[in-house]
Amino acid sequence: MKDKTKTPWPTKAAMEQVYDMKLWGENQSDFYSGDGSHHPELVHPYIDVLVSFLSKFSPPLAVCDLGCGDFNVGKHLVAYASKYTAVDIVPKLIQRNQAMFKDKKLRFECLDIATDTLPSGDCVILRQVLQHLSNTEIQSILKKLTVYKYIILTEHLPESNFTPNADIISGQGIRLKKQSGVNILEAPFNFKVKNTTQLLKVVQQQAKGVIITTCYTLY
Ligand SMILES: C[S@@+](CC[C@H](N)C(=O)[O-])C[C@H]1O[C@@H](n2cnc3c(N)ncnc32)[C@H](O)[C@@H]1O
Repeated sequence: MKDKTKTPWPTKAAMEQVYDMKLWGENQSDFYSGDGSHHPELVHPYIDVLVSFLSKFSPPLAVCDLGCGDFNVGKHLVAYASKYTAVDIVPKLIQRNQAMFKDKKLRFECLDIATDTLPSGDCVILRQVLQHLSNTEIQSILKKLTVYKYIILTEHLPESNFTPNADIISGQGIRLKKQSGVNILEAPFNFKVKNTTQLLKVVQQQAKGVIITTCYTLY
């Protein structure tokens, strides 16, 4: 009898395959991080609330954008940070971003945020990244986030009541297919924060569900 246990691919290989095979769709560009990174009705309101949040700080915050993807979103935020470190696990994507986006304040790094040391900063942006990762990887990322002051987390979630944090194998898909989504304050993570503020909620027309951006202030 065949062993039906799925052996997960390493996350790096899974994400490289997503980009190589254009599993999140495509446009004219060589790398495409999905409709969530490109559809104006999802991107514009997000940029507005992030610009408004970051503009409140003087001096500006040092930002770490973890899982920066094709940088179609992050490129609008660099001007509002004192330093902007954008990280992704896919080496060719980071090389392409380094060639395409130049700014004195901007630095790209190829890291696995679950296993590598994270860059220093005040504020972490995690936009539609944790939703693709297993609970084990999310847990190891969260352990490293306690040193930052703010975490701005964006997750694609089911629209109504759901059981959070059903486990998945890291890769292209998200928990929506299991009628679940990531909530870092709930079990098994039980992440402790000082304040929680919802910054944005956008209904995702194409793929169902809602995309919620929350700002967590840490102790
Ligand atoms: C759906 S895309 C979102 C891109 C971007 N944050 C945005 O909103 O436009 C998720 C990105 O997270 C990256 N990623 C996934 N797991 C990662 C990991 N362990 N370390 C670093 N990057 C990761 C993927 O390669 C991909 O580029």
